[in-house]
Amino acid sequence: MNVIIDAEFNPVPSLQQIAKVQLAKTAPKAAAVAVFVKSEGDLPDALDLTREQLELAGFAGKKSDALLLPGETAKVLVGISKGFKTAAEIRNAVACFTRNAAKFSELAVELDALTLDGVPAREAAQAAAEGALLARYAYEPLKNKQNLVALETLTLIGENSEAAAGAERGTILATADRLARDLGNTPPRHLNAYKFAEVAERVGPEYGLEVEVFGREEIIEMGLGGLLGVNAGSVQDPRLIKVSYQPEGATEHIGLVGKGIMYDSGGISLKPSNASHCSMKMDMMGAAAVFSAMTALKELGVKTRVTGFLMCTDNMPSGSATKLGDVLTMRNGKTVEVRNTDAEGRLVLGDGIALAAELEVDAIVDVATLTGAAMMALGTQTAAVFANNDTVAQQLQDAGKKSDETLWRLPLDLRLKKAMKSNVADFANIGANEGGAITAALFLNEFVAGTPWGHIDIAGPMESNSDDLWRSAGSTGYATRLLAEFAADFKKPSGDTVGTELE
Ligand code: BES
Ligand code: MN
Ligand code: ZN
Repeated sequence: MNVIIDAEFNPVPSLQQIAKVQLAKTAPKAAAVAVFVKSEGDLPDALDLTREQLELAGFAGKKSDALLLPGETAKVLVGISKGFKTAAEIRNAVACFTRNAAKFSELAVELDALTLDGVPAREAAQAAAEGALLARYAYEPLKNKQNLVALETLTLIGENSEAAAGAERGTILATADRLARDLGNTPPRHLNAYKFAEVAERVGPEYGLEVEVFGREEIIEMGLGGLLGVNAGSVQDPRLIKVSYQPEGATEHIGLVGKGIMYDSGGISLKPSNASHCSMKMDMMGAAAVFSAMTALKELGVKTRVTGFLMCTDNMPSGSATKLGDVLTMRNGKTVEVRNTDAEGRLVLGDGIALAAELEVDAIVDVATLTGAAMMALGTQTAAVFANNDTVAQQLQDAGKKSDETLWRLPLDLRLKKAMKSNVADFANIGANEGGAITAALFLNEFVAGTPWGHIDIAGPMESNSDDLWRSAGSTGYATRLLAEFAADFKKPSGDTVGTELE
């Protein structure tokens, strides 16, 4: 069954509001122009002020210091401390500028100011585009009164073909990221598995993707016991959404798998009725990141073939729900005793990872809002990464550095596996209380069938409490840009791949 609340509602409005990022010799009329100011040394020529005067206004040039000076063209002073050593610092500073010029629909930045300390023009322009487009994001389709002033143009003042290419790259990646945020922010009644599939079928082909949607009967035929087990308590049908990007002449192939729990109530292991669980509408951000990243591949000119599996259902309690002690048979034939229905993400991912492994891809990466334990360990700015192969882990971490979605590697500690023992099935879906993020990764490892694999747990950074530089309050779209950068730079993994048993 599929209960549609508002068939006309468009969950992804941000795709229609992308600002133009351009290079030009001068700023457009009525633009706010950024003036980046270090905490020491000479002030930029454009300023007719002294350090003492700035200090009186509370501006010391530290990161996140900002001061708007109204005028024919408004100047927004943005503190950059010691300067721009990395693209991440540029992204942050342009985001800070954008937030402090919130009423302006035209923004401008001097390209030379960005590249002064050595960041290459291409990376600088990309970071600037991402910073502006991501900071000028808010989810408002369900409000009667919109507060956001849409950004029309970001002008990079200067002439440089590398910068033009970078600006285009940044626009593509930010567009994908904003799509992911829309999907994450949409309430669960407006975005169930059926509706997500509908969005993928509509949007995917516009970005060169083939989208196949599998419904309940097909999922039964395919033997996706994990996805069906999680879906058992829901009145909404599950969906497996398979997304394919097949550039001509590709020699490498990546499988991406996303956790698509449209709402995680915990199921029979019901979560408490705590306001923080509003966030569980975002339990599909792994799937949203995979899909959104894939919309960027063609425009980025990625040469690697990519196949995505979005494992979509909600996790609900009801008379038909999976019970504690029930045993599910997964796609790869392994049996799982469900000892906690709130450990549902690994059940749907296990099936998706098994499907990806069957395609004999060169690497599998899954992304999931998987464990509170990962959030407790690393906080809300950093995601956890696990891998059975060092070169996969390294490529993912390199991509995260580029997108400033940092990954911290945690160990796939096979010694913790014995706590998942079950008396009735091959293993259970939970292990010891300690090391919960590791247990979840060990569970997924049972489905990779020797394929080089990485697992990204984005439970911590999936959401931001407040507007913060390039993150906007609500869904952050975390890992979307990372996955696209990863696919763009992908090399066949080499070296050892760890198995499932201690040797
Ligand atoms: N979706 C949650 C994890 C989560 C928690 C994501 C907070 C984002 C913010 C996941 O399905 C879950 O409930 N995990 C349990 C696992 C436990 C039952 C082994 C958890 O982390 O408590
Ligand atoms: Mn759960
Ligand atoms: Zn969950």
